[in-house]
Amino acid sequence: MFTTVIGGIASQGLAKKIAKRLKAKYLNSEIKVFPDGECKITIYGKPRGRIIVVQSTYPPVDSNLIQALALISKAREYSSKIIAVIPYFGYARQDREFLPSEIVTMKMVAKLFKAVEASKIVIVDVHSKIALKHFKIPVENISAVSELARYFRKLQLKNPLVVSPDFGGISRSREFAKLLNTDYTALVKWRDRKTGNVEIKSSNLRNASGRDVIIVDDMISTGGSIIKAAEFLKRQNCGRIFVACTHALLINNAEKKIRQSGVSKIISTNTIPSKTAVVDSSEIIVKAIS
Ligand code: R5P
Repeated sequence: MFTTVIGGIASQGLAKKIAKRLKAKYLNSEIKVFPDGECKITIYGKPRGRIIVVQSTYPPVDSNLIQALALISKAREYSSKIIAVIPYFGYARQDREFLPSEIVTMKMVAKLFKAVEASKIVIVDVHSKIALKHFKIPVENISAVSELARYFRKLQLKNPLVVSPDFGGISRSREFAKLLNTDYTALVKWRDRKTGNVEIKSSNLRNASGRDVIIVDDMISTGGSIIKAAEFLKRQNCGRIFVACTHALLINNAEKKIRQSGVSKIISTNTIPSKTAVVDSSEIIVKAIS
């Protein structure tokens, strides 16, 4: 099937890799931001066949989201088969009403993808499965755990302990540990819904002492969760601390703060371009598309 891949401004490197793997035609997009903040988007060239639009919606989230929707809407003029690859899906953390009267923004965002007539959405490690329920079009959520674990296997750490910073991530750490043939645990995290501050409330971990640990999470935003987990693990006399995550947003100097908390290495995937994004997610994305 003839395929065109359109790279949104937030994901051009990844989009090119996807196009190469698919042996598809690649088209770049460009934006011009006007003084009032509106942007004009241009797609260079004519797409044809099945069209794949690739655009993560990391910060600036709203702007990258509008661009993704605009690209899909334009692509729909050329084809009835549009796959929207949104590797990091912003707003997935607002999937339910945590405090009374909050707007479930994820629900509205999901409606927008239907409105622009995307045929299918592909997401990598969506923050919550509940977020997926808001879509009224087919959606596939793929996991980058195997790719991250492959990277860590090469480091040949001796008997590492895989740790999820919260109970919500326990199945991710279980899967990661299985791929490394080692054991795992999850800490108990509490987040103040008003301030966003995080506390680790776990009791002592007997099996962390002297061992290298790999903290595995879906995303790092401010780094608060990882920093608290690292501080807790250090108090348990663990060895070196590594971090593996799919999406490294690393807001407000988070990388530096995480390193200062005692983390030796942060490894993430290229769903969000950054210094830590050394694991390629294009292969798993192509599998989901094909
Ligand atoms: C929370 O449930 C997520 O898995 C991440 O741990 C969290 O969103 C990361 O945010 P931050 O880096 O700001 O603590």
